[in-house]
Amino acid sequence: MKDAEKLKIMIVGTGYVGLTTGMALAYLGHRVTCVDKDTAIIDKLERGISTIYEQGLEDLLKETRSRATFTGSIVDHLPGTDIVIIAVGTPSKSNGDTDLSYVEGVAKEIGLALDPEDPPVVVNKSTVPIGTARRVETVIKEELEKRGVRCALSVASNPEFLREGAALHDTFYPDRIVVGAEEMQALNLLRQMYAPILEQTFNPPQAVPRPEGYQLPALVTTSPTSAELIKYTANAFLAMKISFINEIAGIADKVGADINEVAKGIGLDKRIGPGFLQAGAGWGGSCFPKDVRSLLFTASQYNCDLELVRAALEVNRRQRKKVIEKLQEALKVVRGSTVGILGLSFKPNTDDIRESPAIDVIGELLDMGARVKAYDPVAEEKYRQNYPGQEVVYCDTAGEAARESDAVLILTDWDEFYHLPWKELGESMKNKIVIDGRNMLNGRELKTLGFSYSGIGRQ
Ligand SMILES: NC(=O)c1ccc[n+]([C@@H]2O[C@H](COP(=O)([O-])OP(=O)(O)OC[C@H]3O[C@@H](n4cnc5c(N)ncnc54)[C@H](O)[C@@H]3O)[C@@H](O)[C@H]2O)c1
Repeated sequence: MKDAEKLKIMIVGTGYVGLTTGMALAYLGHRVTCVDKDTAIIDKLERGISTIYEQGLEDLLKETRSRATFTGSIVDHLPGTDIVIIAVGTPSKSNGDTDLSYVEGVAKEIGLALDPEDPPVVVNKSTVPIGTARRVETVIKEELEKRGVRCALSVASNPEFLREGAALHDTFYPDRIVVGAEEMQALNLLRQMYAPILEQTFNPPQAVPRPEGYQLPALVTTSPTSAELIKYTANAFLAMKISFINEIAGIADKVGADINEVAKGIGLDKRIGPGFLQAGAGWGGSCFPKDVRSLLFTASQYNCDLELVRAALEVNRRQRKKVIEKLQEALKVVRGSTVGILGLSFKPNTDDIRESPAIDVIGELLDMGARVKAYDPVAEEKYRQNYPGQEVVYCDTAGEAARESDAVLILTDWDEFYHLPWKELGESMKNKIVIDGRNMLNGRELKTLGFSYSGIGRQ
């Protein structure tokens, strides 16, 4: 077995998953080549600048300089690599199916450059539909055939469960690591790659301390098919849990219960658990929506109707509208009003805005004739770049977004929104209305300050 220090790992796709994984593996002593076809990303990373907002990442970029290489080329750097990890995007097609063109594009390049005498283990870390490990193997073999060479190949599935906003934490201290592999050699190599994490033998990076009482993570070894299904099942379950509490929030609103109290009351039951029971504007992000759609698509191909999963998606769609309805109730007339939006990212501590509730809610408000001012601590630039068509007044502070507004709408539970000087904000607003799409504020306190406050499933 090779020394853990000496594993040579290539990670293709240097986004949220690829960059985090690459930096963590380099920190653990492996030699890592991060590949991205976006030259702007590579340029920045080479200069030690993180291309995504994730706590501790920039420190790690600096610390791992001697073990990490950034490049645009798979072909130039593949020879001598022990493990190639595919971590490119797998977006949704319009019919809900997964667009595997990026994954297959990488597989082709691997096939072009792979040394048949010493092939690396190929690992799918991207979230991919059932059968993709086999599909990647086929694509690589097709390329090898064109070159007139043959060799045995191992393609393993190693789904990623990190949460944006806590990506490094989750990589160093996961709940479990899932490896789906048919061949012992692939499994052993991945076990070796993850050994410092599985055994927690590393000194924690300063920005990512080991949580107190952290237990060693389980290594769950499965077939590639089970590993692929585990990832989709985990995301569908979590999405369903949020949609469930959002559905109950609808009754809480009608009967005058407080959904936060209800969530606490059920979450303390160990069988249920407290996570993902926060009612609000619904789930978004780069994973839940596309993964839920993809699972439904795969199920439909096998003539399975996943009714609960389908309902979770539907409840989530409705939830976006709930926020607007709350605003209509409070404002009566939306046209001509000014609405201050707090939070653009799909959740706090990330600049990721993919499928963020803000996109739908702001779009709807603009269609209804409102003027929208928005503030987000880190996601403004990404939002501005991706939605140039939305006429939004971007603000540098929450106070600026609230000033002269008829209502403030909270769409992301950024920590700083807990501590805003609401008295001052209220004094600068035209109407003291707060719609709390994340149920994060103390409604009673705001009412004492003269606000009309409305949460989701809370009076
Ligand atoms: N973001 C998350 O929280 C998260 C969590 C778990 C799993 N995942 C899954 O991991 C995968 C990656 O997600 P992400 O959020 O990191 O994506 P991302 O969009 O942030 O990054 C993907 C990167 O891949 C690069 N890329 C695409 N094709 C390439 C090619 N042929 N060669 C080199 N680079 C290429 C893109 O330029 C981009 O920088 C997806 O399948 C996603 O579902 C994401």
